[in-house]
Amino acid sequence: MNDLTTVVDTARAAFEQAQTPAELENSKALFLGKSGRITELMKGLAALPVEEKKSRGAAINLVKQCVEAALNARRQALAERELQVQLQAEALDVTLPGRQRGMGGLHPVSLTLERIEAIFGSMGFEVAQGPEIESDWFNFTALNTPEDHPARSMHDTFYVEGGSEHAPNLLRTHTSPMQIRHAVQHVKKHRASVEGTVAEGVLFSGAMPEIRVIAPGRTYRVDSDATHSPMFHQCEGLWVGENVSFKDLKYVFTDFCRTFFENPDLVLRFRPSFFPFTEPSAEIDIQFPSGPLAGRWLEVAGSGQVHPNVIRNMGLDPERYIGFAFGMGPDRLTMLRYGVNDLRLFFDGDIRFLSQFR
Ligand code: DAH
Repeated sequence: MNDLTTVVDTARAAFEQAQTPAELENSKALFLGKSGRITELMKGLAALPVEEKKSRGAAINLVKQCVEAALNARRQALAERELQVQLQAEALDVTLPGRQRGMGGLHPVSLTLERIEAIFGSMGFEVAQGPEIESDWFNFTALNTPEDHPARSMHDTFYVEGGSEHAPNLLRTHTSPMQIRHAVQHVKKHRASVEGTVAEGVLFSGAMPEIRVIAPGRTYRVDSDATHSPMFHQCEGLWVGENVSFKDLKYVFTDFCRTFFENPDLVLRFRPSFFPFTEPSAEIDIQFPSGPLAGRWLEVAGSGQVHPNVIRNMGLDPERYIGFAFGMGPDRLTMLRYGVNDLRLFFDGDIRFLSQFR
């Protein structure tokens, strides 16, 4: 019987030594394999007399069970160890800070444009968009700008090849052409609905819903320094009706500025000026009652009563229709609102600057 106890002990020791499942399976073969120790013992039974066979066979079976139990125990231990190693290798430190998601944000000028649209929208103004490559007609001529006006020079305006008086030939220098484009469409649509066919060249003097629109967008001039960029933004405003006066301009624009800067004590000044498309014309200056800019007059827009020639180019009879227009600089409004002193920062695309406005 002694030899049998030894088998169990050696098997246990061999299994214990195995450090991996593969090693363990090799050790198993030594005992339970085809020519393993236990199989050999079984074969040895054949030579024994019947009586001995019985008891010896039972004893060997017991040994076999013990060896199998030891094998299974070791298998489980190794599997558990492997799992532990894997868990440790793949451990997550849930206390580490999360990975930052790069959240985008709107450009500060876009924020301003949204704000302008919301404020004027609340006053019943539509928002219109128009082409950045314009024709002489919309950019200058229809706006009552004389042939020899300096703004028309190559020195101030980017001209593009091709085009002509009535075909796109320049990058718009202001959003004012949208006054004409929008008004012409407005008048045409209205006339089509009341007159059926629209007689070309006949000014409209019937009744019509008012034109109330703003037109924000990109504009271009040959200009570049800390406060001028060759590409910049403007927002045009136009209100045309039968009884729209300079008083309305003052009210609307004052209300806009005070809302935009969230400052009901903001002071406005309408300073006489000249624009070909308005008569009379005024520059609009604002003054903050307190803060770093307090006491200084800051120009924010050009404005005026729409010139009768411009009203005509809209297809309207200036004897009946009158209104005001203004053109402001959203870039400048953004600089004033956030205290930025170099316009170029807006268009350099430096994320360190832009991300501050998220
Ligand atoms: N278009 C002018 C400019 O770019 C600004 C301007 C002035 C627009 C008077 C207007 C206006 O609508 O009435 O300097």
